[in-house]
Amino acid sequence: MALIEINKLSAWYGKAQALSEISLEVNRAETIAIVGANGAGKSTLLDSIMGLVHNTGSICLEDEDISASKTRYRVEQGIGYAPERFNLFPYMTVRDNLLVGAYTARDKIDKNLSAVYKLFPQLAERENQETATQSGGERQMVSLGRAMMSSPRILLVDEPTIGLAPKVCGEIAEVLRRLREEMGLTVIVTEQNANFALSLAERLYVLESGHITASGSADELARDDTLAKSYFGAG
Ligand SMILES: Nc1ncnc2c1ncn2[C@@H]1O[C@H](COP(=O)(O)OP(=O)(O)OP(=O)(O)O)[C@@H](O)[C@H]1O
Ligand SMILES: [Mg+2]
Repeated sequence: MALIEINKLSAWYGKAQALSEISLEVNRAETIAIVGANGAGKSTLLDSIMGLVHNTGSICLEDEDISASKTRYRVEQGIGYAPERFNLFPYMTVRDNLLVGAYTARDKIDKNLSAVYKLFPQLAERENQETATQSGGERQMVSLGRAMMSSPRILLVDEPTIGLAPKVCGEIAEVLRRLREEMGLTVIVTEQNANFALSLAERLYVLESGHITASGSADELARDDTLAKSYFGAG
């Protein structure tokens, strides 16, 4: 059974429809990528899974429909979110930003903080530094770490490579791989960087103007000429 299953999810901002009948499923310990251009609806999809946008359709976590639940409940049930452009508090330290993510899991702060510092040793070294003075890559790591502080089973990561150098993208990919392999985490990552998505995800969905227009394994999508040219830099 899928860990999370989304069926006919549509989302609106006022009268403007941003997502049209999106259906997808993600299995335990699987990484999937949602690939799409600016405005395709990537952030709206993740916001909908968190209950932050008006939407219809169903979102089932194991066999429970959480589509009418409050965001806090979804976090307590194990959905963690590292939103776009990380939204950190710039004049708070790394450690205090991480603690913000522990709101629903205060009894596990020590355990989760050690796990985050093990995953990102450079954050442990700089735990008293304000995030305003960090590099983009370091801030992305704080954002992922903050999402880990709620003890998630499934992690939503919105465009983790935006504005980052290729070497740092590689480091982020490595961390996301370790989350799956060492901690059994299920990951949904959105990307415009299709090559990053291909290198990381077992399956991909292509999102265009609020519709899923293709899906399949990395091999299957790379074999489709039109898609390969448009999204995956081939041809
Ligand atoms: N708060 C909002 N109010 C009104 N429309 C919005 C709002 N947020 C997004 N939209 C619209 O919804 C659509 C999807 O936007 P969304 O931010 O989900 O795209 P995205 O794929 O995340 O893009 P990007 O790569 O630029 O982050 C776009 O047409 C956008 O203009
Ligand atoms: Mg976005």
